[in-house]
Amino acid sequence: MKKQLTSLAIAATLAVPALAQQQSVEVLHWWTSGGEASALNVLKQTLEKQGVTWNDMPVAGGGGEAAMTAVRARVTAGNPPTAVQLLGFDVQDWAKQGVLADLNDMAAKGNWDKVVPPQLQKFTKYNGKWIAVPVNLHTTNWLWANKEVLAKAGVTGEPKDFDDFIAAAEKVQKAGFIAIAHGGQPWQDATVFDSVVLSTGGVDYYKKAFIDLDTKTLNSPTTLKVFQRMSQIRKLVDKDFSGRDWNVASGLVISGKAGFQIMGDWAKGEFVNAKKVPGKDFFCYRFPGTQGSGAFNTDNFAMFKLKDPAKTAAQMKMAEDVMDPSFQSSFNVIKGAAPARNDVSDAAFDDCGKKAIKDVAEASKNNTLVGSIAHGHAVPASMKSAFYDVITRHFNGQIDDKKAVAELVSAAKN
Ligand code: GAL
Repeated sequence: MKKQLTSLAIAATLAVPALAQQQSVEVLHWWTSGGEASALNVLKQTLEKQGVTWNDMPVAGGGGEAAMTAVRARVTAGNPPTAVQLLGFDVQDWAKQGVLADLNDMAAKGNWDKVVPPQLQKFTKYNGKWIAVPVNLHTTNWLWANKEVLAKAGVTGEPKDFDDFIAAAEKVQKAGFIAIAHGGQPWQDATVFDSVVLSTGGVDYYKKAFIDLDTKTLNSPTTLKVFQRMSQIRKLVDKDFSGRDWNVASGLVISGKAGFQIMGDWAKGEFVNAKKVPGKDFFCYRFPGTQGSGAFNTDNFAMFKLKDPAKTAAQMKMAEDVMDPSFQSSFNVIKGAAPARNDVSDAAFDDCGKKAIKDVAEASKNNTLVGSIAHGHAVPASMKSAFYDVITRHFNGQIDDKKAVAELVSAAKN
């Protein structure tokens, strides 16, 4: 009897390391703000309940530029993380390298082709195969407003178009508040640009100019007007905007120091994290003039091919967790985005979340859901960076409106 027990004990100890080894994922991401981190906790806890430990690899820096540098280093060193937060064309670029795991079987079983909007599938599939798992459907064309500040400034009602917005912002500035809380970083300037392009030229212009890169459309009075409007916004940010992180800018609106922020709906995650309530403490407006359309960016987890079958098992478990409808609700309620799936109930979402879900469903159906320029869903990374450069130098007054148009056109040509 004793002999049997010992061999049983030995077998059990031998099994533990394999199990323990299998149950871990290393995830590279840039979700380091309050709201982002608490959303990510939902995934960590889901995995930990399934016995999968989470090795966190956060790379701070909104918009993910720094994170992408870290990914390149890890993959070229032949040691990719289990999963990486990737946006839009960056997913396609890695898929071209043949380094992303094939998720097609799981996608077929889960009917992902049906439940994920076609606009997102352009980025989550490569050569017809699923190679990334969409976590959400963020849109960037939002205007966040502090209710009390607007009341004190005598601003009543939602700004209907761009000029309404400027008039409201000027009232807020006159009343002694920061009119527009902004962080002077290229990706944030470009995020504002998304909204101004959509508001000024509409969906057709946006697509032709910034997705098709049609130089005639780019080299037009509409683009000049976009930059003239960016100059108007520049006059309404505070003197300390340069280099400010996006969530610190959100904090200025949350605390009532600023009236507005133009930012994607991850900003809503900061309001939620600060226990603020839509309609009571703040308003979530579609950027004025963009109602009915959406500039979207989807956060995906790309699953890199791994040598170790145990790690691959944990990786696949994570992919399934991310696409689970209840996870898509509990994560995005905190993150501020709409779910990536179109079959998730909005019951758990606040009024801004419900609006986000309704808006993207309509925009997807009406084909007015366009890829965000700022967040890698309009053009590939190299072109995106070239646009960042023009937009930021214009915002910082290094080039004037006309020069900015010319430089944008030449960037698009190369
Ligand atoms: C976006 C990303 C969001 C949020 C934001 C600020 O690119 O899609 O999830 O992280 O950057 O960092």
